[in-house]
Amino acid sequence: MTSWASTRISELFDAQYPIVQGPFGGGVSTVALATAVSNAGGLGSFGGHHLQPHQLDATVGALAAATGRPFAVNLWVPTADQPRGIDEETFRTGLARLRPWYDALGVDLPEYRPQTLPDFDEQVEVVLERRPRVFSFVFGIPSPRVLAECRRRGIVTVGAATNLDEGRALEAGGVDVVVASGNEAGGHRPSFLRPAEESVATGPLTAQLSSELRVPVIAAGGIADGRGIAAAFALGAEGAQLGTAFLATEQSAAPAVHREVLHTDRARYTMLTHAFSGRHGRGIRNDFLDALATDPADIPPYPQQLWLTAPLRAAGTERANPEVLFLYAGQGAPLLDKAHTDAGELVRFLVTDTDRVFARLADRSSRRRDEAGAR
Ligand SMILES: Cc1cc2nc3c(=O)[nH]c(=O)nc-3n(C[C@H](O)[C@H](O)[C@H](O)COP(=O)(O)O)c2cc1C
Repeated sequence: MTSWASTRISELFDAQYPIVQGPFGGGVSTVALATAVSNAGGLGSFGGHHLQPHQLDATVGALAAATGRPFAVNLWVPTADQPRGIDEETFRTGLARLRPWYDALGVDLPEYRPQTLPDFDEQVEVVLERRPRVFSFVFGIPSPRVLAECRRRGIVTVGAATNLDEGRALEAGGVDVVVASGNEAGGHRPSFLRPAEESVATGPLTAQLSSELRVPVIAAGGIADGRGIAAAFALGAEGAQLGTAFLATEQSAAPAVHREVLHTDRARYTMLTHAFSGRHGRGIRNDFLDALATDPADIPPYPQQLWLTAPLRAAGTERANPEVLFLYAGQGAPLLDKAHTDAGELVRFLVTDTDRVFARLADRSSRRRDEAGAR
């Protein structure tokens, strides 16, 4: 049993199982979540793109103190077309469009204040200094200097691809592992060479990347149980990354109402939209998404839309109103079992369920062989 678990990924990550808890940015990751997964033999991840370098430093320190096992730190590579801040005029125009939502909830319109994203180069310095086992990133490829420095310090690098071009670019750039981030996945599409809407589905993407690349591939998107993991391995993956399944556990910092919706019939209706944050991601339909998706042309780009909607989401969280939240979820949400509320227990379930699926398949084929022999 579990012979499937011995791959280049489990070896590189020094983890018992090649099962990765996908990182969550924007405050949804927790030290408790990553720790529970790593302690259970998977690879826990912490999404820290929104943190200032000193906050990231404290978080990685807390992770190292909480688990003696390997874990991943995840950042977002800045894209060339991404605004770094917001000017007053863009702020006022964007807010005017959202005013009916503020009025309906009785939330005061926020005052303008200049905002900027944390500096990626400074965040990377924290990673290099702290040396987590794994540095994963999305939306591009860090500089050759950073990748070489990671290698020198024994940090395994993991990039995400939504199509073959991006996978090839990551490998050519010197990245150690590629995540096949399929279109089914919850959260933002990490596309960087092609439009997000062109993202390939997890199955064909995993098969293409694993047959074309020399580096090992981790499948992500729509995987929720042993069937999904076994299917990903059959397609050539050497690891599986799950996001939505871990988002639903009690250790995630997703609002309780978001976690509850993941277990309802509503979770069957997801779409790819940039209405939430200004950048394409997959989430469950709600009133906010439906209203903005009908006229998406003037939605300001990430991170501006994210900032403009922050007070709405705070009110939605406080009042347990899912209609104004960003209900990020992958297409595997309807497969989730409510029984797995603990992240460590979820890892153990995924391992035994994958064992069970492989055993059933082997049993079926040996029975067919026996039947053929008896004929
Ligand atoms: C709320 C949310 C936030 C996410 N944030 C990040 C992130 O910051 N960095 C990243 O690499 N992936 C991020 N992801 C993607 C997950 O790590 C994972 O690859 C994806 O959820 C897998 O697909 P699944 O949700 O169908 O399991 C996020 C996903 C969700 C649902």
